[in-house]
Amino acid sequence: MKMWSGRFRQPLNPEFENWQRSFEFDCRLLECELEASAAHARALEKTGVLSADELAKVLDGLEQIGERVADSAELLNDPEAEDIHHFVEKQLVGLIGDVGYKLHSGRSRNEQIATDLRLYTRAACDEIGAALNNLAETLLDRAEQAGNAVIPAYTHMQRAEPVLVAHWLLAYVEMLLRDIERLEDCRKRLNVCPLGSGAVTGSTLPLDRELMSSELGFEGPTANSIDATSDRDFALEFVNALSLLALHLSRWAEEMLLFSTQEYGFIHLPEAYSTGSSAMPQKMNGDLLELVRGKAARVIGDATSLLISLKGLPLAYNKDLQETQEPLFHATETVVSLLPLVTGWMQSVHFNFERMQNAAQTGYMNAFAAATYLVRKGVSFRIAHGQIGKAVRLALDKQCELQGLRLDDLHAIDNHFADDFYDFVKLEKVLAIHEVPGGTAPARVQQAIITARKKLSSACEEAHAHA
Ligand code: ARG
Repeated sequence: MKMWSGRFRQPLNPEFENWQRSFEFDCRLLECELEASAAHARALEKTGVLSADELAKVLDGLEQIGERVADSAELLNDPEAEDIHHFVEKQLVGLIGDVGYKLHSGRSRNEQIATDLRLYTRAACDEIGAALNNLAETLLDRAEQAGNAVIPAYTHMQRAEPVLVAHWLLAYVEMLLRDIERLEDCRKRLNVCPLGSGAVTGSTLPLDRELMSSELGFEGPTANSIDATSDRDFALEFVNALSLLALHLSRWAEEMLLFSTQEYGFIHLPEAYSTGSSAMPQKMNGDLLELVRGKAARVIGDATSLLISLKGLPLAYNKDLQETQEPLFHATETVVSLLPLVTGWMQSVHFNFERMQNAAQTGYMNAFAAATYLVRKGVSFRIAHGQIGKAVRLALDKQCELQGLRLDDLHAIDNHFADDFYDFVKLEKVLAIHEVPGGTAPARVQQAIITARKKLSSACEEAHAHA
């Protein structure tokens, strides 16, 4: 039986009927729907609409639906079910008889879908938060293992200054820490319960909203029934957080791809996460990285879909809101599936430290440090910059590095140059002078790893508090 056909004289156009259904995708919400329905049933019993006996039947029926679907997903093959709410009602009535129809007393699908989607998004925040934690831990492990290995840091894609490999990896950890925080923040705001909001104006039965809310682990009931049934900010916030995360991973993927080219040669792609070419036998391609970059585009598209779906909607529920489900599911499933793969890739990638070190020692990457040398001798920075620029020019002509210039050549440029210059521009010294919090001096980087680990474990604790 349909949930709404009483006032209709004509049957629906069959194509339209099928076209407007959402069950094919909202069947993902089954668990949330069963949980929320059980909370509603308990509240109904307190109002007297269900007797204790009827409540027991309803709860048992709901549980059975979950078990039966777990046993055979075939059950979900129901071309009549309009959506997850209709499906559960049909199943329930099939299992416990007409008393099943009582469950819909005092509620509306509008509040149900809002509740289900909040439960779904909350679980997704937790799952993705945990996966992000694993990835960040892996990056920290790799950073630690890299010790004092160096790599060029780039600006404008030109070699800039040497940094510790660990410092470079820590940059990605920072992004992920922000992503974790964003999900936590989003979770806080979404964790309120629409049950009891009715179709738009609030339930017609005196349901205990506090009780339903706490049974479902929400912080409290939503404050306004119109907003509660029409709000999808939480989905948008969440998918936006995911698109920012996907953007971070996409930048990471792009950089790894670049560094894996023969031109850079800084990393060897892990075979377990790469593929070959059907035409060129020598090839190994970084497909994981390319797909991460490609999938990021679609997650960003999901966030855009949500924004545009919502921007023109008057209050309160409109069927357009059904279209907010798929971008939410797609973004979630995409990120859930790619994070463990990115972690696996990161665990198995091989760094070519030798090649990185060679690159970090050529191309005048100690020029900034050389200017600092003159500054420490009392020369103003602008002048020092000019003098080192001249030294670089000369070295270019002589096809050597700055430390390859003779002292009398340097003297001719600036008389502050002395013997200690050659020591000052050595790689270790160049790293060590970046002795500020957040800088690449090895002692600072070691500290940064410890700080990042602490941040991660406190994020982990917060996550456990939810579990
Ligand atoms: N399948 C619908 C959705 O996802 C459920 C709410 C239907 N409400 C209604 N008034 N037709 O939005």
